[in-house]
Amino acid sequence: MSAPLPAGLPAVHRLEGLPTRVRIHEVGARDGLQAEKALVPTEAKVAFIRDLVAAGLPVVEATSFVSPRWVPQLADAAEVLAGIADAPGELDRHPVLVPNAKGLERAFASGATAVAVFVSATETFARRNLNMTRERALEVAQEVTATARGAGVSVRGYVSMCFGDPWEGPVGLDRVTEVSAGLLEAGCHEVSLGDTIGVGTAGHVQALVAAHTAAGVPVDSLALHFHDTYGQALANVHAGLVAGVTCFDASAAGIGGCPFAGSATGNLATEDLLWMLTGLGIETGVDLRAVLAAGARMTAVLGRPSPSRVAQALG
Ligand code: COA
Ligand code: ZN
Repeated sequence: MSAPLPAGLPAVHRLEGLPTRVRIHEVGARDGLQAEKALVPTEAKVAFIRDLVAAGLPVVEATSFVSPRWVPQLADAAEVLAGIADAPGELDRHPVLVPNAKGLERAFASGATAVAVFVSATETFARRNLNMTRERALEVAQEVTATARGAGVSVRGYVSMCFGDPWEGPVGLDRVTEVSAGLLEAGCHEVSLGDTIGVGTAGHVQALVAAHTAAGVPVDSLALHFHDTYGQALANVHAGLVAGVTCFDASAAGIGGCPFAGSATGNLATEDLLWMLTGLGIETGVDLRAVLAAGARMTAVLGRPSPSRVAQALG
């Protein structure tokens, strides 16, 4: 058993040149729960999301309006939104994933005011995840974005398989920038670059961010989304910080993966990200203890321990 510092937080030492504030985009209730074998009761999802909001997370992605046949874990999307929509404007901080016009309609019917669209940087994963070609998937995402923006709804874009694809192998930088630029042009306010299978390393992160800047995509419209499959997630966050990125996706208790990419394991754990950012003196507004408690409640429901190293050290 390691010995945590008395306050359970790291000593703070700033590293020159890094941002002073970072936004954590919490994806546990969506990216996390979509990949769990267990069907989590709606009330437990609602409690998880509420716990994460209470912990100070500014954005807590809630669910997906995807095909319930494809992702039965999130078939209760409408009920989850109904469970969290108790204050005016509350749903602004709870984006929901939509794959197509039907998903957007369902999201609208549930009162969603923030949505996210997603496109794979690779052809094979576009087909496996969306049953569309990559080109068609981008068109659909652009149409959905335009419709949502027309209705005053904010749209985040996700690009998946940015660092490698289990079927196609390495992914060229320009394959990613094409999709990101297309999503931003259509009206997404931000694009999250996903390392869906966690194979990226720090130099690759730097190169991918630089490729975006060179393609005219400003760094403040980028977020980074890491999975910790190969233990690289925090090193990759560090490379992102050095490159000036100020939004990182993470999932409480490191739950997650993707049901359509077998080699994807859990997301970077929010607790582990917070430990690093806290030690670097980077503000997030998030209470690590409260996230630990939220993660512990959810892993109890899932019936398995948290893969978060911080949760293990402090648990
Ligand atoms: N929500 C609910 N039902 C939907 C839907 C949505 N967003 N989109 C399509 N459907 C329904 C259709 O109405 C149709 O129903 P019917 O058979 O009763 O008429 C059926 O699903 C098939 O529609 P189709 O357009 O042919 O869909 P598809 O089978 O080609 O699947 C997607 C396409 C996009 C719906 C599906 O691939 C999907 O939901 N993917 C999401 C995967 C995901 O969430 N991955 C994790 C994120 S990384
Ligand atoms: Zn992911």
